[in-house]
Amino acid sequence: MGFSADLSGKIALVTGATSGLGERFARVLAKNGAAVAITGRRVERLEKLKTEIEAAGGKAFIHPLDVTDVGSIRACVDNVWEQFGPIDILINNSGIGEPTLATDFTPEHYDKVMDTNARGAFFVAQAVAKRMIAAGRPGKITTVASLAAIDVVKGLSVYAMSKAAAAHMTRALALEWARFGIDVNAICPGYIVTEINEGTWETDLGKKMIAGFPRKRIGKPEDLDGLILLLSSPDNGFMTGSVIVVDDGQSLG
Ligand SMILES: NC(=O)c1ccc[n+]([C@@H]2O[C@H](COP(=O)([O-])OP(=O)(O)OC[C@H]3O[C@@H](n4cnc5c(N)ncnc54)[C@H](OP(=O)(O)O)[C@@H]3O)[C@@H](O)[C@H]2O)c1
Repeated sequence: MGFSADLSGKIALVTGATSGLGERFARVLAKNGAAVAITGRRVERLEKLKTEIEAAGGKAFIHPLDVTDVGSIRACVDNVWEQFGPIDILINNSGIGEPTLATDFTPEHYDKVMDTNARGAFFVAQAVAKRMIAAGRPGKITTVASLAAIDVVKGLSVYAMSKAAAAHMTRALALEWARFGIDVNAICPGYIVTEINEGTWETDLGKKMIAGFPRKRIGKPEDLDGLILLLSSPDNGFMTGSVIVVDDGQSLG
């Protein structure tokens, strides 16, 4: 059965829809009636996803996007708005992990993680909110931060810093945009199996990590369906500035 929300007539822009969580979010939003603008750098994957969403009765629009390039962000948001329609929902999801010990980070590698996860998330939110504000339309912006925004993990220092920035950004933007009817929230997932961490769970370290979790398991992208629908639903009108941990208790103990 699963969760549901009435998103008919809404347009959602999903960043990082080429795999993992973003791909799942696009499918779930489309299944619940939203027309979805799916974005990312790997356009061939977007084409496959569009075909599948449309075969299931949904509506999708493809636009390439590199969130490290502010010109690409602005072109994407403007083209989606003008060619597909005004954006009601943003799922600000693009991100990279890049586990590296702090002593091994180069300035270039540091910039890549920060430019994707923090700077990119900021300028995507800014581009969408500017259009919503100019059009006098309310909206829902949900940024996918991470449990690493709150909890630190060895080898993920810069990732954790970038996600802490994305989480704190959420509260700052919620404060500025509340008066425009734009709800800005963030989710902080625990470990969910996707390409960002594939290969980890079969290693000795991965097995040890799972054994340490209270439920001795990692999540699946569909475990976030209900939360992403709640934060995208026009029926949810009393949440903004929330940074929500959704981790199956992985951070406990
Ligand atoms: N899986 C987890 O355990 C977990 C836990 C907490 C938080 N998260 C967060 O969830 C989000 C989605 O990650 P995932 O787990 O679904 O990993 P994933 O399968 O690797 O997906 C990452 C997505 O980000 C996109 N992306 C990366 N760099 C980009 C760029 N420069 N411009 C535009 N898009 C870019 C990728 O698209 P292209 O490569 O096609 O551009 C891809 O669609 C990330 O922000 C991640 O930090 C994941």
